[in-house]
Amino acid sequence: MEPSFWHEKWDLKQIGFHQPQINEFLVKYWSRLSLATSAEVFVPLCGKSLDMCYIAEQGHNVLGCELNQLAVEDFFKENNLPVSHQVKGEHQVYLTEQVSLIQGDIFTLPIESTQSITAFYDRAALIAWPEEMRQQYAIKLATLVPAGVKGLLVTLDYPQETLNGPPFAVSPQWIEQYLAPYFDVELLECADVLAENQRFVKKNVPWLNEAAYVLTRKI
Ligand SMILES: C[S@@+](CC[C@H](N)C(=O)[O-])C[C@H]1O[C@@H](n2cnc3c(N)ncnc32)[C@H](O)[C@@H]1O
Repeated sequence: MEPSFWHEKWDLKQIGFHQPQINEFLVKYWSRLSLATSAEVFVPLCGKSLDMCYIAEQGHNVLGCELNQLAVEDFFKENNLPVSHQVKGEHQVYLTEQVSLIQGDIFTLPIESTQSITAFYDRAALIAWPEEMRQQYAIKLATLVPAGVKGLLVTLDYPQETLNGPPFAVSPQWIEQYLAPYFDVELLECADVLAENQRFVKKNVPWLNEAAYVLTRKI
């Protein structure tokens, strides 16, 4: 999806992807990463996700990257966090004590920006991209994540021909083909979540799986 697609979604407040509660797989599986409290967690394509508040509540520092300025500003406003602001090249950085959000395009994010991260969390980032861009995103993520770093990945999978994305379907086979060259992949759980997703039910999508994986960047 081109930047204009996402800017329009935020402008029109068509942000069905934004969850009003913390992701259940995040709560259930975050401890599997066995992180130090002082961990620095990269959240690509973070939107204004409340999952970042959960991660910060574990004592970790959060480093998000989000294209849309309104999303970034809303995150701090809605969570009553006073924020300072710096310009770094073509990106803007919004800082609070525990959460820093880089506003700008992840594809132009310099590799130095993420070299101190010790974990990452991808919910609705990988599945935000159509096929070709998803492959480019997988390479960019692998570039930004240092060797040995673990992340939690949450995906959706469904018969793609039954619905136009986003979210786009990402199968275990896709992960094996495009992420496994860079990451060790461990599937934690795959659950049928069709009943809780009325947009999919209304379009007669026959099944919808949400899956959680631990990814470890290969050395
Ligand atoms: C499907 S939403 C998911 C947001 C968040 N992860 C969540 O769970 O609510 C995808 C987000 O990625 C952002 N985005 C799209 N393209 C981007 C890019 N090239 N660089 C950084 N962020 C981008 C969009 O503005 C949007 O907020």
